[in-house]
Amino acid sequence: MNANDHYLGEVFFDISLFVHCGSLTVLTYQGLCSAFISAVWVAFPLLTKLCMHKDFKQRGAQGKFIAFYLLGMFIPYLYALYLIWAVFEMFTPILGRSGSEIPPDVVLASILAGCTMILSSYFINFIYLAKSTKKTMLTLTLVCTITFLLVCSGTFFPYSSNPASPKPKRVFLQHVTRTFRDLDGNVVKQDSGIWINGFDYTGMSHITPHVPEINDTIRAHCEENAPLCGFPWYLPVHFLIRKNWYLPAPEVSPRTLAHFRLISKEQTPWDSIKLTFEAIGPSHMSFYVRPHKGSTLSQWSLGNGTPVTSKGGDYFVFYSHGLQASAWQFWIEVQVLEEQSEGIVTVAIAAHYFSGEDKKSSQLDTLKKKFPDWTFPSAWVCTYDLFVF
Ligand SMILES: *[C@@H]1O[C@H](CO)[C@@H](O)[C@H](O)[C@H]1NC(C)=O
Repeated sequence: MNANDHYLGEVFFDISLFVHCGSLTVLTYQGLCSAFISAVWVAFPLLTKLCMHKDFKQRGAQGKFIAFYLLGMFIPYLYALYLIWAVFEMFTPILGRSGSEIPPDVVLASILAGCTMILSSYFINFIYLAKSTKKTMLTLTLVCTITFLLVCSGTFFPYSSNPASPKPKRVFLQHVTRTFRDLDGNVVKQDSGIWINGFDYTGMSHITPHVPEINDTIRAHCEENAPLCGFPWYLPVHFLIRKNWYLPAPEVSPRTLAHFRLISKEQTPWDSIKLTFEAIGPSHMSFYVRPHKGSTLSQWSLGNGTPVTSKGGDYFVFYSHGLQASAWQFWIEVQVLEEQSEGIVTVAIAAHYFSGEDKKSSQLDTLKKKFPDWTFPSAWVCTYDLFVF
């Protein structure tokens, strides 16, 4: 081994130590208790180096040196591996429902790259301490290339139905009839279909080969004038899931129809308009509000009284009740700064039928049967009604 490589090996060790000292300083300065992780990553290597100072200088990568080195690094590496394991346990499932806009491969690859950088920090110096630097580099490059080719070849299928380690693809199928009304209460548009949401980045691309009718010709169109694009969102995740599919289907026919009506519309002394509503429907309902241009939602009878917007500026309210609940009455107050001919506010209510016969439809059953076993379709019937006031 030449002296130059030897020197480089030591420099790489010192640089790693320096970087971890840096993070220790920053974390301590910010008062974060997690600084102890960096402390472990500074103390043990530093101790190792102090104890093995002579070996570092003379022997390089020899048996005894390597054994002591590994012993010194054991605790920090064991602890880091444990933490990294927890990170993957957490992020891998989350990325299976992180929406259509975040590519999970990129996120996981970045996390993995970060972990690899941390884990390799105190072992990079071995490239220089090893007998043949060239061979080591060649091996590492080969491993990288093979991994890269395997990843790009698409050999690894992301889902599995194996009960011992299930990796299902989550899909929501909502058989919905949508009714849109104008300011005068006339129905301006009515349609029905099965609204399909995949919860991850791959959308329907793996489903289409099994269910050909779910393809990109039926991508759902955003209703620009309706809150949350005019679909019966069960969760306000419209900013995460931008791609969905709407397969035309006949009207739904739940036995107990949901009712929604305006009870009163009053002018308040403080010059805003209070709209009181009543909703009767199944155990789960969602309510959507979009104040028109020139109007704002100033108060409502829900929560602590202050309206909270969901991402995108519309309002989303989720309501659920037990079997014997009375009608849901609530009010919203709209402050009108500028009167518009198109009304002051658009509201919509979705009724989700989650139980009994009402939940089912023959179209949903037929469609669900076509889904491969590595998917987990949740299917239910809904109605969606939009009003302008
Ligand atoms: C795509 O979906 C439409 C509507 O569901 C269907 O009519 C059409 O046959 C599908 N295309 C293919 C190539 O399967």
